[in-house]
Amino acid sequence: MTNDLSTSIIIFGASGDLTQRKLIPSLLNLSIKGRMPKKFSIVGFGGTAFSDDEFRAHLLNGAKEFAEFKFTDAEWSAFAPNLHYVQGKYAEAADFQRLNENLKGLEAGDANRLYYMALPPSLFPVIIDNLDATGQLHENGGWRRVVLEKPFGTDLASAVKLNQQVHKALNENQIYRIDHYLGKETVQNILFTRFANTIFEPIWNRNYIDHVQITVAEKVGLEHRAGFYDGVGVLRDMFQNHLMQLLTLVAMEPPASFSAAHLRNEKVKVLSAIKPMTPEEVAVNTVRAQYKGYREEPEVKPNSTTPTYAALRLFINNWRWKGVPFYLRSGKHLAEKQSQIIIQFKEPPLSMFPMQTMKPNLLVLYLQPDEGVHLRFEAKAPDTVSEARSVDMEFHYAEAFGKTAIPEAYERLLLDALQGDASLFTRADEVETAWSLIDPILQTWEQHQTPSLGIYKPSSWGPLEGYDLLARDGRRWLNAEASMMLEK
Ligand code: BG6
Repeated sequence: MTNDLSTSIIIFGASGDLTQRKLIPSLLNLSIKGRMPKKFSIVGFGGTAFSDDEFRAHLLNGAKEFAEFKFTDAEWSAFAPNLHYVQGKYAEAADFQRLNENLKGLEAGDANRLYYMALPPSLFPVIIDNLDATGQLHENGGWRRVVLEKPFGTDLASAVKLNQQVHKALNENQIYRIDHYLGKETVQNILFTRFANTIFEPIWNRNYIDHVQITVAEKVGLEHRAGFYDGVGVLRDMFQNHLMQLLTLVAMEPPASFSAAHLRNEKVKVLSAIKPMTPEEVAVNTVRAQYKGYREEPEVKPNSTTPTYAALRLFINNWRWKGVPFYLRSGKHLAEKQSQIIIQFKEPPLSMFPMQTMKPNLLVLYLQPDEGVHLRFEAKAPDTVSEARSVDMEFHYAEAFGKTAIPEAYERLLLDALQGDASLFTRADEVETAWSLIDPILQTWEQHQTPSLGIYKPSSWGPLEGYDLLARDGRRWLNAEASMMLEK
């Protein structure tokens, strides 16, 4: 029974932003909710010099600033003694030996260990090698699991290599590749909407759906990550992981069960049904752009061609989706923070109401902000003969479950990793298949510089080319509120 053992959570990169902003507040909230293992320690490892007390003070500051929930002094005081720090170098086996001694002191006997890599992926192999060399991955008594932060590689070849490197010391079932979008309540609700109800699934296919739009728009720019972002760009940062994951959840077949294996098999099937684009297809089915002023940002190369916006038109070649376009877009410095999935249904085959063109029904999954689900349909305007009006049926999480009902995505993911549920983590073949779709686009963009790099005004909805991508098909982006207001 490993569940009664004490559990150590070891965070590599513990002095970084992610630990302070997300990981510790999430672990704190889990502890307040009584969901942490009975006995646990959280040990930070990093280059910065901290005593345990300094580390705790640093994390308390972070929790006060970034936690999206209130906590009392007493709750912090109950949690803080579980926090410890070990200073060390990632390439230094002796430091890992010291880490192990420290952990053993805290664990007193067999224990479970969750190693969290809150670091760039180039450091994963060296850390895993050192953990392996010092016997810290060996499951003799308790389990050993490793959580790997994104990005998982920078292209298909590097992702394959990284998988090979981590598989040398770990089995796939010990590896938890994080995509924090999968931890979002509203993202999990995509599957609930589809498979916990009977009304959607019969029409969830090419017979009734005209097209799907997936938008993850950000109002923020680079914040303080320009150095990282300029070498990466929007396709690697947002599409290979988050947008592709959203696409798989919208498009997948009902899994045999919600087990990690069944769920992930279905996601891989969706990705495998998308044909990697040829350069000619990249030229017409993709848009890349940079916001005006990007090249003047500190740490950005003055001639950088890194895109901060992209839009794609993809097709899933299976019986359910053949011929239905999926339009995906994401960008920095857009007009609003808005993540949503819009399913546009086909127009009625025949309008019986003279003078009216019927508007198609829309199902909008609002992922953030104002999380919810809206269904737009046509109603007869009262006191008219046949005037139609688009109306909305709306579900808002805040109304139905309370304003603070939605937890931080990392909370759910950390809990799942502690409990050994990998359903919301990406499997090796899934990551590689997603890269196999992104790679040809990146190559065409980077080697052939085609399509040309568009420019858009910060705080706009992106470049003109982004509109053209849909206009060519006789469609347009439906930013739900905006378009609904227009149509009223
Ligand atoms: C991260 C990206 O994975 O997701 C960031 O690296 C981006 O560039 C962030 O800002 C968006 O996440 P969220 O949860 O704010 O939508």
